[in-house]
Amino acid sequence: MQLPDGPKIHPFFQLIKWLGTPFEFLDDCAKHYGDIFTIRLFGYSPLVFIANPEGIQQIFSADPQSFDAGRGNEIFRPLFGDNSLFLLDGDRHKRERKLLMPPFHGEKIKSYGDSICQTAQKVASEWQVNKPFTARDAMQKITLEVILQVVFGLSEGERYEQLKPLLVKRLELTSTPLRASVVFFKFLQKDWGAWSPWGQFLRLRDKIYDLLSAEINDRRANPQDQSNDILSLMLSATDEDGRPMTDEELREEMITLLIAGYETTASALAWAFYWVHKLPEVKEKLLQEIDSLGENPNPMEIFRLPYLTAVCQESLRIYPVAVTAVARITNSTVEIMGRQFEANTRLLVSIYSTHHREDLYPNSKQFLPERFIERNYSPYEFIPFGGGNRLCLGNALAMLEMKLVLGTVLSSYQLALADDRPVKPKRRGVTVAPSNGVPLVMTGKRAAKKAVFAK
Ligand code: HEM
Repeated sequence: MQLPDGPKIHPFFQLIKWLGTPFEFLDDCAKHYGDIFTIRLFGYSPLVFIANPEGIQQIFSADPQSFDAGRGNEIFRPLFGDNSLFLLDGDRHKRERKLLMPPFHGEKIKSYGDSICQTAQKVASEWQVNKPFTARDAMQKITLEVILQVVFGLSEGERYEQLKPLLVKRLELTSTPLRASVVFFKFLQKDWGAWSPWGQFLRLRDKIYDLLSAEINDRRANPQDQSNDILSLMLSATDEDGRPMTDEELREEMITLLIAGYETTASALAWAFYWVHKLPEVKEKLLQEIDSLGENPNPMEIFRLPYLTAVCQESLRIYPVAVTAVARITNSTVEIMGRQFEANTRLLVSIYSTHHREDLYPNSKQFLPERFIERNYSPYEFIPFGGGNRLCLGNALAMLEMKLVLGTVLSSYQLALADDRPVKPKRRGVTVAPSNGVPLVMTGKRAAKKAVFAK
């Protein structure tokens, strides 16, 4: 079977470009080969990238049995474990998604609003006037607290205090393209002792697992303490034979949600803070909208603001945190965009390339939130959270967090970029984040409607 055309350079150099400068690489591919092309990464099967809304619709709305995504997510196996939602397929994936879905949807999501705003206020209250801080680190503190609350129902206490720095350190291990290589090059995944990159990773993972196991044991020993957080849900779930989840299954699903849930949202928020402070006209319009709510707005009023929503959407469009959706491996011959793909072909919906189609997003390299007010994009055109049966489980929570954190912080603090240089996207593990984390400085506090300088 002839796969779509793609770059001719050696797969090793394709991998280097994919790791080092993924957005430039994809722009180059789109320029030369259009909206469907094949990339060959050294050590991996060929990947067919698709950036065509019709093709994306065919993939996202196909019968889930047409594709396996779990077995296409091999790269996550050492990071999350065999029992992670990312690694599951078929009935087990469907069942586990159904189990995990309620805390991420509808009324339940709204109930996190107050605590997101309070967490944002708490973190922001540590900023000192004229002392620079990194937006990404600050956002990471907020999103980590929020996800700990959603998964465990709590975000304080000794165990959580121990867990937080370990989770942060765990992500730091893949925070540069060089460090991220350990995820992509299987031959680097060898434990050569506590100082080797993989050795460090494994030791840290074991420490995190120990803490998670201790929490699981406590909860099992005190069933009366169960609340409606995710761990409690998982502890009370049984499979079709009435068996509860094993400790290993519980640990791996928890680490999946903790990691997937906070690093992505922190990077997305850091980008949003960057654009708002880079572009004065965007900031002014946004502040006007936020101020129109008066003092102490309720979280759901902030959530519904149209321009704030558009700013978050445009941030997720221009530099999507996830460059692609997860790979879908065809289970039998499948037709996409009039082409036949035989069984075992890896199809990757390219989020970045779709978000930079000039026919959908004119002047795509410019940050223009108005485009989301003037036009409604379909779930096959604006796809920061992927789609279909693998649609990001936390998409509603992530949007809620982005809007509430931006709204809360901007209404109370005056911030400015601490460094004028343009910020570039840089790989962090499997995601892409702002290169320098976006240095900001707090120049003063403000009250709704009227800016007040700090003394
Ligand atoms: C701005 C923040 C986020 C972005 C950009 C993002 C993006 C994505 C993308 C692109 C996928 C793959 C979807 C596909 O292949 O169709 C995904 C999957 C997933 N995300 Fe997110 N995500 C974010 C936040 C979160 C949060 C807050 C959670 C909460 C726990 C989360 C949990 C997951 C899980 C569990 C999956 C796997 C779903 C499955 O395989 O069925 N994500 N995310």
